[in-house]
Amino acid sequence: MYKTALQAAAIGMAFASFAATAAPALNAQQLYQANCAVCHGAKMEGAIGPTLGQHAWLHGEPTKANLIKVISKGVPEKNMPAWSPALSTSQIALLADYIAANANKKLAAAPASAAAPVKPVASDLLSGFTLPKGFRISVYAEGANTARSMAVSDSGIVYVGSRKAGKVYALVPRADKQTAEVVTVAEGLENPIGVTLLNGALYVGEISRVIRFDNIDKRYAQKPSYEVVKVSLPNDKWHGEKVIKASPDGKLIIPVGAPCNICDTDDTKSAKIYRMNADGSQLEEIARGVRNTVGFAFHPTTKQLWFTDNGRDEMGDNTPSCELNVLTKFGQHFGFPYCHGGVVPDPKFGQGRTCEEFVEPVAKLGPHVAPLGLSFYTGKQFPEAYRNNIFVAEHGSWNRSTKIGYNVRLITLYGNKMVSDTSFIDGFLRGDEVVGRPVDVVTLADGSLLISDDYAGRIFRVTYDGK
Ligand code: HEC
Repeated sequence: MYKTALQAAAIGMAFASFAATAAPALNAQQLYQANCAVCHGAKMEGAIGPTLGQHAWLHGEPTKANLIKVISKGVPEKNMPAWSPALSTSQIALLADYIAANANKKLAAAPASAAAPVKPVASDLLSGFTLPKGFRISVYAEGANTARSMAVSDSGIVYVGSRKAGKVYALVPRADKQTAEVVTVAEGLENPIGVTLLNGALYVGEISRVIRFDNIDKRYAQKPSYEVVKVSLPNDKWHGEKVIKASPDGKLIIPVGAPCNICDTDDTKSAKIYRMNADGSQLEEIARGVRNTVGFAFHPTTKQLWFTDNGRDEMGDNTPSCELNVLTKFGQHFGFPYCHGGVVPDPKFGQGRTCEEFVEPVAKLGPHVAPLGLSFYTGKQFPEAYRNNIFVAEHGSWNRSTKIGYNVRLITLYGNKMVSDTSFIDGFLRGDEVVGRPVDVVTLADGSLLISDDYAGRIFRVTYDGK
């Protein structure tokens, strides 16, 4: 019934807890990618867990024996799962050898670290993108390490959150308005990926809290002080980074992802979207069954909340699909962990449930494409056909055998139905080489479009001059 080993393995693992994700007959690299990369990075560069390249080893020298011990027993209180018995003794030994071989190597530093990311020459960089006729792409700002969500203020300053860099940036337009200077507004924050503006204040979503910088346009350059907004939400590191956005009626929307690849979250505060007042009061759940949304926007006329959701892993390369959803009524359930992509029942949690119980996605964006930020185009610069349609930034797959995503898509709508899903910008992935990973899209007042890239710390700008 299950066609591939990976699919069969995914079924097997789904019956145990998160730790039991072992797939038989995989080589060390595949075992690593399937079980470890999510926390230690696809290249062992570190993410939620430490790098497994050269560093001060926390649990003794990286000898095979020591590695087997820490992998088997884990460090449960520090979020490192115990891998025995989920992985067999021989699989753990394979992984220990694999890690020992890299243990003293200086691994390519993640973009957030002191070392600057490797950048192709600018002309090659830009000529390698493809866009529809009449559109041009340029670099608006550079040096915004791990740039994530963006918010544009009335005076044209763009605030940008970041991930590992721990910083919030202000992009201040230069006189020619074609490029912007990157000013650091705050640093030392905990993955402050989410930014939004409300009543002149900048709100920033960190993993464990929301903070507020009042009167930000006047103070961004002065390392401004901030207030902590009183709100208590789960602060798991896995999928715990928080996008935040002001709603048209002056509230704040903030989602909490599932603290796992797949787990039962229905009775917890995770895998939900919340709404609250600007001061954090009246926190209420507005959507559930949302695995991990990292981007949302309000429709310009209906004011409904549209959001992306990232599909689960370990069911193979081609399933399930990531989603684009719309919330038409508070309290709607979008399927996680029971049903994925609107049509794929979960092998474990889907038993006794049907996909019909849940709200179907407006668009199935494809497996592992990792849709993050989205934005309705409301500018006047692009042709009329773009108006009120959606740009989605697809960050790209991290563990699929062949990479997918790494682009900006245009989704056109008729009412709340998708009409088409076509490429708007391609070329962040060139053969096997990644030159960027799109995160968020926003429109400037002149109708040009900005795209943040957390891989190279750039902000791109797209303009239209085709007549
Ligand atoms: C859910 C996240 C997560 C996953 C999945 C995970 N790890 Fe870890 N791992 C961590 C964390 C966090 C630490 C640091 C623990 C500590 O602070 O003591 C860690 C520590 C380690 C260490 C010790 C590093 C040191 O500096 O001593 C090794 C080795 C390791 N992990 C290997 C693995 C392997 C192999 C896998 C896959 C089979 C794996 N990890 C999967 C989170 C994870």
